[in-house]
Amino acid sequence: MTARIAPSILSADFANLGAEVRAIEAAGADLVHFDVMDNHYVPNLTIGPLVCEAIRPHVSIPIDVHLMVKPVDAIIPMFAKAGANIITFHPEASDHIDRSLQLIRDNGCKSGLVLNPATPVECLEYVMDKLDMILLMSVNPGFGGQSFIPSTLTKLKKVRALIDAHKANGGHDIWLEVDGGVKADNIAQIAAAGADTFVAGSAVFGAKDPDGGYKNIISTLKTNAGI
Ligand code: DX5
Ligand code: ZN
Repeated sequence: MTARIAPSILSADFANLGAEVRAIEAAGADLVHFDVMDNHYVPNLTIGPLVCEAIRPHVSIPIDVHLMVKPVDAIIPMFAKAGANIITFHPEASDHIDRSLQLIRDNGCKSGLVLNPATPVECLEYVMDKLDMILLMSVNPGFGGQSFIPSTLTKLKKVRALIDAHKANGGHDIWLEVDGGVKADNIAQIAAAGADTFVAGSAVFGAKDPDGGYKNIISTLKTNAGI
């Protein structure tokens, strides 16, 4: 397997979003990471289903919608209709986590939970069979360009062990994604701790090639991940 790279369009040029997502797909990105913030669950306000629908025809890679909104249920079908492929949310943002995960699947998308740096992993235990992805935040959510929090490495190892145990008991594979402060110079240790899917916002969009594309940075991230 090679590392999956999910550039976060939070750091893209919002005035040229169609061109930006086409450029990351051409450069080898595996997913478009789409950060949704509501100025309630997190202190920032970004983009919603209309923008997801607008970029959908520009790429064929999956759109990975990271909901930083509270509550989550009403917005899930809207993102599914707008072309999302994966929808993840924070457990603190839903009163009924199992039901919200099922709602994502009932709407035809892959489902996942996102854990903030201080959120314990125990909330995963009884919903492993409803998760296609587990996303560990390596910064506090709300802004791009923050520094990677080192304790995430210990947590990644713990969640990797949970996923491997789930698989050993006949369960399905679950992608392990990490989000925040991922760079070319730390991706190797993050991959070694067990991540297989890497969100990178400022690292990708801050490193344009001379031709305006992103091939160098995306291939460097994949190579450096070493998986
Ligand atoms: C933070 C977002 C991240 C962020 C990552 O709340 O979920 O996806 O954009 O940005 P970088 O890679 O710049 O840390
Ligand atoms: Zn994100």
